[in-house]
Amino acid sequence: MDYLEIIGKNKLSGSVKISGAKNAALPLLASTILSSNEVKITNLPNVADIKTLLKLLGMLGTEYDQNNTDIVIDSTNVNKTTATYDIVKTMRASILVLGPLLARFGHCEVSLPGGCAIGQRPVDLHLKALELMGAKIELKSGYIVATVDGALKGATIVFDKVTVTGTENIIMAATLAEGKTTIVNAAKEPEVIQLCEILLDAGVQIKGIGTNRIEIVGTNKKLVPFKPFKIIPDRIEAGTYLCAGAITNSKIKIENIIPLHLDAILAKFEEMGYKILREENSVTIFPTKHIKPVNITTTEYPGFPTDMQAQFMAIATMANGVSIVDEKLFENRFMHVSELIRMGANIALNGTVATITGTPNQLIGTDVMATDLRASSALVLAGLVASNITKVHRIYHLDRGYDKLENKLKNIGANIIRKKEN
Ligand code: EPZ
Repeated sequence: MDYLEIIGKNKLSGSVKISGAKNAALPLLASTILSSNEVKITNLPNVADIKTLLKLLGMLGTEYDQNNTDIVIDSTNVNKTTATYDIVKTMRASILVLGPLLARFGHCEVSLPGGCAIGQRPVDLHLKALELMGAKIELKSGYIVATVDGALKGATIVFDKVTVTGTENIIMAATLAEGKTTIVNAAKEPEVIQLCEILLDAGVQIKGIGTNRIEIVGTNKKLVPFKPFKIIPDRIEAGTYLCAGAITNSKIKIENIIPLHLDAILAKFEEMGYKILREENSVTIFPTKHIKPVNITTTEYPGFPTDMQAQFMAIATMANGVSIVDEKLFENRFMHVSELIRMGANIALNGTVATITGTPNQLIGTDVMATDLRASSALVLAGLVASNITKVHRIYHLDRGYDKLENKLKNIGANIIRKKEN
């Protein structure tokens, strides 16, 4: 296993090019199961979760030819419908093959994704929605066994909670259903929007794209002709590097992004005193005289994203005053708190609310352990400003969602190196 060794206190400077969005690429790769032709995709992020999903699709019969961030993928010859435990346990987003496989083949077996470090993360809303569309769902020895006679039937689905992959699964299932599906209380994330846009380009009748009410008229199991597309930029990766600029109080430019996808994140930087320059495909953050404390409540897009909560908590340890972070989406997304406390941070937890009493330069480097993807990035950010040496262990979590993070940080002046555990 690898770890990252960081010697803190370097000022950063320069620019970072952002990769394609992992959370857009995952549903889009799964959606090729719906395609009547091979699909050319560009700007694919080079991260472990994408490799995992491609391995799963390959096991189902998908063929693909990948050249770094470009891929030609052909799922027309998919002939298996079982997503096995060994794959799903490593990446719960494998659940995204459930909707397309069931809609196309009328049956599939997908291992129930276990919980993960950030919470139990059930998929009950996905399953309830598919049952409303005529599927029979059984749970057998840890597998979801889904079947339907003929095509799924269009239905009106009202999600009790906003679910990103739940919305994506039902959009894909509805594409091949018979009749119209209306999703009420749909997720509006940019990644959901891109999935809808790709299907619209393939000729699927979709209304309400980007709203919380989406209507899809199914093709009654007729596969659809996908056009080539480019994955949208990763707004969370972009936010994470802006946090690197913020926590080290440096001027950093983030390129190849869609600034409006970061509105809620940029507003919080400005609340903390940082100047932000928005340009067409880039954002620049400038140092502030002193970092103000901040109050954050995570919510669905376009509100402040849960995937940025840990990173802002690291900045809050450097602010002059008391910050509050309220994590409303996941019941256990504070795994980074104990590690930040070990670095000297003053953080109190009370249920879903973290109270951070910030003091500039209070962090001291030590050995810390990553527990989940975004928590890991928060520990790296803390290491950038801590005195002494910080070693972040179990960084396979980081590799799931960040493409060459240490290289991108090194290129803007961080003293960071990847090493092998002895
Ligand atoms: C997606 O996860 C993202 N993953 C997550 O990013 C992100 O944190 C999350 O959305 C919230 O924005 C991908 O897109 C691959 P949800 P997802 O279903 O779809 C509850 C990262 O760091 N819920 O929107 O699994 C659930 O427990 C990852 O890249 C149910 O109760 O999240 C949570 O409290 C981490 N039943 C809330 O809804 C269900 O059937 C939102 O979950 C489904 C969800």
